[in-house]
Amino acid sequence: MKISVIGCGYLGAVHAASMAELGHQVLGIDVDEAKVASLQRGVAPFHEPGFDDLLVKNAQRLYFTTDMAAAADAKVHFIAVGTPQSADGSADMTYVNAAIEGLIPYLSPGDLVVGKSTVPVGTAQRLSESVVSSGAILMWNPEFLREGFAVEDTLSPDRLVYGLPEGESGDAALAILDSVYELILAKQTPRLVMNFATAELVKVAANSFLATKISFINAMAEIAEVTGANVTELADAIGHDSRIGRRFLNAGIGFGGGCLPKDIRGFVARAEELGVGQSLDFLRSVDAINLRRRARVVDVVIEELGALAGKKIAVWGLAFKPDSDDIRDSPALDIVENLARAGARVIAADPQASGPARKRIEHAGLASSVTLTDDHHESARGVDAIVVATEWNVFCEEDPTAIAPLVSNKLVIDGRNTLDSKAWKAAGFTYRGMGRS
Ligand SMILES: NC(=O)c1ccc[n+]([C@@H]2O[C@H](COP(=O)([O-])OP(=O)(O)OC[C@H]3O[C@@H](n4cnc5c(N)ncnc54)[C@H](O)[C@@H]3O)[C@@H](O)[C@H]2O)c1
Repeated sequence: MKISVIGCGYLGAVHAASMAELGHQVLGIDVDEAKVASLQRGVAPFHEPGFDDLLVKNAQRLYFTTDMAAAADAKVHFIAVGTPQSADGSADMTYVNAAIEGLIPYLSPGDLVVGKSTVPVGTAQRLSESVVSSGAILMWNPEFLREGFAVEDTLSPDRLVYGLPEGESGDAALAILDSVYELILAKQTPRLVMNFATAELVKVAANSFLATKISFINAMAEIAEVTGANVTELADAIGHDSRIGRRFLNAGIGFGGGCLPKDIRGFVARAEELGVGQSLDFLRSVDAINLRRRARVVDVVIEELGALAGKKIAVWGLAFKPDSDDIRDSPALDIVENLARAGARVIAADPQASGPARKRIEHAGLASSVTLTDDHHESARGVDAIVVATEWNVFCEEDPTAIAPLVSNKLVIDGRNTLDSKAWKAAGFTYRGMGRS
């Protein structure tokens, strides 16, 4: 099948390459010329495990362009443009609206437009009129991929969600998307069919639930910190209850990235518009707890070192999660900035994200107090403290006896509760975790 993917960022570029892997002829369209040029050369414009290989392997079936007119050749068009946060917290729909508007002149009767972007409930209904007027069908097929596992999650998702219009056009859309995903469905992947509103809500509800679980355990960390309890032991104990489960119960510096924070804020804003704001009041607390954790780490550093002026601190991690170079709303990067604003000299290390972080540090006017590097050993030289902010394997598995001779003061603050505290203490470090006395 001939497919276009409009928007080639973290979601769209991986989706395009994955559709080619399924055997389709795929055209990726993006307004960002540099990104398109890189993808067209077969070079991933961001770090995502396995993505480069997929681009190279499927080069014969993949083509990237900035020219929307090329979409005229395709029968199925995935919309994967960004829906960032607006100033008022709602989802900014500028890019989705522009993508649909730009695509409509090139649609043919019977084409299928498949929304993948995360959108406020009601969007598909609003957009479907203009799509239908061109003879095409609109459906929504939200994406659940996790960065760091994007290729695996796209080709072997936990489930596929189809938000369909009512009637015959819904049946036609279902048949077309089933044939696009034939190889995925052959693996017995659950496929859940529902109306537009439900499909849109499934995505934001899933992210709200995950965010709530993380903030719940971080709220327990706050209680643990003033009572002498240990939140990791608490999480292990409640996680044994199969109704609760252990996943997403790691207390630390909270969630970030291009999805969870803006999705819960956008959901709250949409609920307000719909007159049911009270239903999501708890998400405001989820957000507030999450942001407090970033400040808490800086407080712990100050508790240990006193005033930060003149202190040298290594922060291990810049990306919002390991195996990604994504720094959008990254707790790690916020912590770097807050330590620098508090007067510290910060040397921040990340295996992939130091390049992307450079622009933001310069924009924040902190280039003179923050040094960025890929090498966490290098960052530790002569520092008064190490703060672990992203749980990259290279940090988790680090041998503290190799780090001890590098630092000038043996203090480690484990923002992700990910280090072997016994080993670090044995190497002479003062160890501070999050929510652990
Ligand atoms: N990144 C994830 O892990 C993830 C997971 C699930 C869902 N989502 C959702 O997917 C959507 C995209 O997220 P992302 O992380 O890929 O964002 P992104 O910012 O990495 O990519 C968006 C891309 O869209 C392009 N674009 C903007 N306007 C365009 C237009 N008119 N025509 C063509 N291209 C255009 C941008 O240049 C950019 O490359 C968002 O709604 C997000 O919430 C993302």
